[in-house]
Amino acid sequence: MKHFLSVHDVADIPALVQKALACKAAPYTDKALGTNKRIGCLFLNPSMRTRLSTQIAAQNLGMEAIVFNVGADGWALEFEDGVVMNGNGVEHIKDAAPIFGNYFDILAIRTFPSLKTRDEDYSERYMTQFVKYAGIPVVSLESATLHPLQSLTDLVTITETFTVARKPKVVLTWAPHIKALPQCVANSFAQWMTAWKGSDFVITHPEGYQLDESFTAGATVTTNQQEALADADFVYVKNWSSFREYGKMLGAHPEWMPTAKSLLITNKAKVMHCLPVRRNVELADDVLDGPNSIVTQQASNRVWAAQAVLSTLLNG
Ligand code: CP
Repeated sequence: MKHFLSVHDVADIPALVQKALACKAAPYTDKALGTNKRIGCLFLNPSMRTRLSTQIAAQNLGMEAIVFNVGADGWALEFEDGVVMNGNGVEHIKDAAPIFGNYFDILAIRTFPSLKTRDEDYSERYMTQFVKYAGIPVVSLESATLHPLQSLTDLVTITETFTVARKPKVVLTWAPHIKALPQCVANSFAQWMTAWKGSDFVITHPEGYQLDESFTAGATVTTNQQEALADADFVYVKNWSSFREYGKMLGAHPEWMPTAKSLLITNKAKVMHCLPVRRNVELADDVLDGPNSIVTQQASNRVWAAQAVLSTLLNG
């Protein structure tokens, strides 16, 4: 593994999941692996779980983690090639990224999409330029289109939770929100689930919220939420804005918020969400506070997913 930007960087998905579970069982086995190694965690956008779990994972491996809130504390970065820098950008990525490459052994970056220009967001311009100019392994802490550490965590959580000798039925359902959100988590979860091939995977959303087919090919897609939820073993709840009418919210659809009642049709499904979650907008209290919610277990597993990835990169 040279970088960790998407599922395509992973040679053996089940092996990486098992590595994460091994880290969970024995967190300090590889404490010497990261001695005298440094990871730079650059945040152009806010984070709680990703930031803390990556720092803990690095420390478990004996690495030093330095967090830099580029968006709040750094110079405004310019990503346009050949531009006359007489605007807001103070430092070009061509100048900044090689310095990060010299300071650190691994670079981890969080950057969100603009949700304004689809082609620009889906070109992953920011992440691509960090990779191009830093010259060291780059880990995505969520990019314009994907959130691979979250998806690995999700797969680890499904694997450790489902112990029956058949494929689980996993449903990704769109849920309401008060503002337009990126498609990253949904894209990434779909990409990992279809690459894994270990589940009967269904995506459900209201009309107009179809995701980019390059991430969903191989999944069953339906706009009938109750039909999708029938007999589900896992329900992954997430909002995303429209891909087709890029970045737009196409109606509120409050009836799409899963509740204990609407989930009765499932196979007592375990309920997942990447968090943060807006209670009683995206997911009802009676689900989040009920016995089938595994959102805390899921968020806790962020440490082991990050540790498995950092350990793989450190091992070269
Ligand atoms: N799920 C997730 O990425 O959480 P944070 O935004 O808090 O990192």
